[in-house]
Amino acid sequence: MAKITASVFTSHVPAIGAAIDLGKTADPYWQPVFKGYEFSKQWMKEHRPDVIFLVYNDHASAFSLEMIPTFAIGTAARFEPADEGWGPRPVPAVVGHPELASHIAQSVIQDDFDLTIVNRMDVDHGLTVPLSLMCGQPSAWPCPVIPFAVNVVQYPVPSGRRCFELGKAIHRAIESFDMGLNVQIWGTGGMSHQLQGPRAGLINKEWDNRFLDRLISDPAELSLVPHIEYVREAGSEGIELVMWLIARGAMQDAAGGPAPRVVHRFYHVPASNTAVGHLILEDS
Ligand code: DHB
Ligand code: FE
Repeated sequence: MAKITASVFTSHVPAIGAAIDLGKTADPYWQPVFKGYEFSKQWMKEHRPDVIFLVYNDHASAFSLEMIPTFAIGTAARFEPADEGWGPRPVPAVVGHPELASHIAQSVIQDDFDLTIVNRMDVDHGLTVPLSLMCGQPSAWPCPVIPFAVNVVQYPVPSGRRCFELGKAIHRAIESFDMGLNVQIWGTGGMSHQLQGPRAGLINKEWDNRFLDRLISDPAELSLVPHIEYVREAGSEGIELVMWLIARGAMQDAAGGPAPRVVHRFYHVPASNTAVGHLILEDS
């Protein structure tokens, strides 16, 4: 059977992608950000999964106000980097895993979550920047990736509680797939940031670090935090953090098993307009 072995959580700032693509990672501004991912790149080499289930949000690249799926699963064999206005990032295309993605769609929809099935979709910085942070600049990504896009842009967006429950359903789906695959689940976006209005530039270190503590040790309680707290404390784009609860809900302790091991924790401000947070949790 397939097994979820680890979850990875990371911010997805587009300027981080540009710093990598333009060879600026050693610049004094960027060096402390990338230092926090040195452990992670080595860990990825030593814990190479067969598939990554990557929870992220699209930023009006694949979707627009014309069509707003709350939860969209990418079932295609291949996903191209999106053109976000400056041309597509010079990163490899993402190879999908249609068999596992179809199984997850079947299982999760039968488990009462309405997913939109997407057979064709480009993937933007929300997905490609986390891959770059964790894998560097390979000529091909180390394994297939199932993109799972969540609407955190246009209200109404899903509650933390629903995201956490969805994570549990994804756990049940993956661990009932009849193939011995090592699967990682990644939750991306956040941490505190606001890109618009009078509070643009907002960063809240204390709240972010408490979010990391709560995500590690009491995600069920954290899942009850209402949207208004995210927006008030972590800024309008801080709501991206509800996606981390999907990955956290897919760990075995949410299904009554033992707690995961924290193997890496990192926090740095700022990167562009955003607080960068990062965690790696391993299940045994
Ligand atoms: C920034 C952060 C984001 O999450 C995003 O999607 C776009 C821009 C920023 O920090 O500039
Ligand atoms: Fe974003």
